[in-house]
Amino acid sequence: MNTAGSPDFLQIRSDFPILNQQVHGKALIYFDNAATTQKPQQVIQGITDFYTHYNSNIHRGVHRLSQESTRLYEEARQKVQAFIHARSEKEIVFTAGATASINAVATSFGDSFLSQGDEILLSQMEHHANIVPWQIVANRKGCSIKVIPMNDAGELLLEQLDSLLTEKTKIVAVSQVSNSLGTINPVKEIIEKAHQQGIPVLIDGSQAIQHQEINVTELDCDFYVFSGHKIYAPTGIGVLYGKERWLEKLPPYQGGGDMIDHVSFEKTTYNQLPFKFEAGTMNFVGAHALGLALDYVSAIGMKSIMEREANLLQYATSQLQQIEGTRIIGTASQKASVLSFVMDQIHQYDIGMVLDKMGVALRTGTHCNEPVMNYFGIDGTVRASFAFYNTEDEINIFIRGIEKVKLMFG
Ligand code: ALA
Repeated sequence: MNTAGSPDFLQIRSDFPILNQQVHGKALIYFDNAATTQKPQQVIQGITDFYTHYNSNIHRGVHRLSQESTRLYEEARQKVQAFIHARSEKEIVFTAGATASINAVATSFGDSFLSQGDEILLSQMEHHANIVPWQIVANRKGCSIKVIPMNDAGELLLEQLDSLLTEKTKIVAVSQVSNSLGTINPVKEIIEKAHQQGIPVLIDGSQAIQHQEINVTELDCDFYVFSGHKIYAPTGIGVLYGKERWLEKLPPYQGGGDMIDHVSFEKTTYNQLPFKFEAGTMNFVGAHALGLALDYVSAIGMKSIMEREANLLQYATSQLQQIEGTRIIGTASQKASVLSFVMDQIHQYDIGMVLDKMGVALRTGTHCNEPVMNYFGIDGTVRASFAFYNTEDEINIFIRGIEKVKLMFG
């Protein structure tokens, strides 16, 4: 904490060893946080400690190590439950990531609740991970996909929601925050409207979980998914939150060890929630590390993180706007710290390459959002995405880089 009572983000930054290095002889400036976030020492050390002291398969042994690793795994589940304010631990299923979570719902919900002629409602700004799994199940079941459109600012046209939600709509799946535009969608309103017609809603929280407080009970969403690696935890661990009554109704989407009650060649009965959806050896070390990452951001405070990132976004936006020939893609009034842009006559890959030589890591391309790029008639953007450990000084270097690109190619 500094004297004003807010966290000392420069001090916090030193928790991230990877940030303290040079790339092409320049200090690394990591602005690719929407793709994946860096890991604090507390998480890295936690993984080493787990393998050094506790490593043993969970739920499978009476021996001491197995009991310890099971305890740490289930503690991580409790931490996730508390972090997203779920009602019960039974509602927290560990998966490999948000993509795996969406595929799980699409498969399982699709098998039981979708049939010929039904509709699945998505939005124009979905990541491919929240489009393709639904297309696969739609093709299998003979359903169709409908899309909530957006405007040029990258805001969903909610006035069209009433006519898009019909008696054929069986599920709505939308992202809380767009990974390419940064738009924060009014998901509570979407959930309320869908629920008025008895339609369940899945929220893709992949780009929201690391930026704002999440309360799934207050949102009243039926499913919420996110990946650990977006919130300072390792890759390969993610969460599927589902309301208990939905998870009870859905069939398992994968079979294997641990998800069963009894198995015979004639008949298998399934384990209770949430284990029914956790087949095989889970990524228990990843789950533990996710719990540590949630402890870490909770200690900083999600409100402080949100404020810090809003300031960084505002500063970067105002600086970029002053450079003639740049156009920001995604100008919604409510945005998370994602700044996508294009430059007149300069390809995004050229911009990315020059910035890389200056030590600035950002993402170029379609960001797994081809429908968004098609909407804007572009083949990609440059995307700078900020985390609380970034600084205004880094933004100044990035802006100087953009000016240099303009001189070189403009
Ligand atoms: N979906 C991640 C991104 O937006 C990988 O970059």
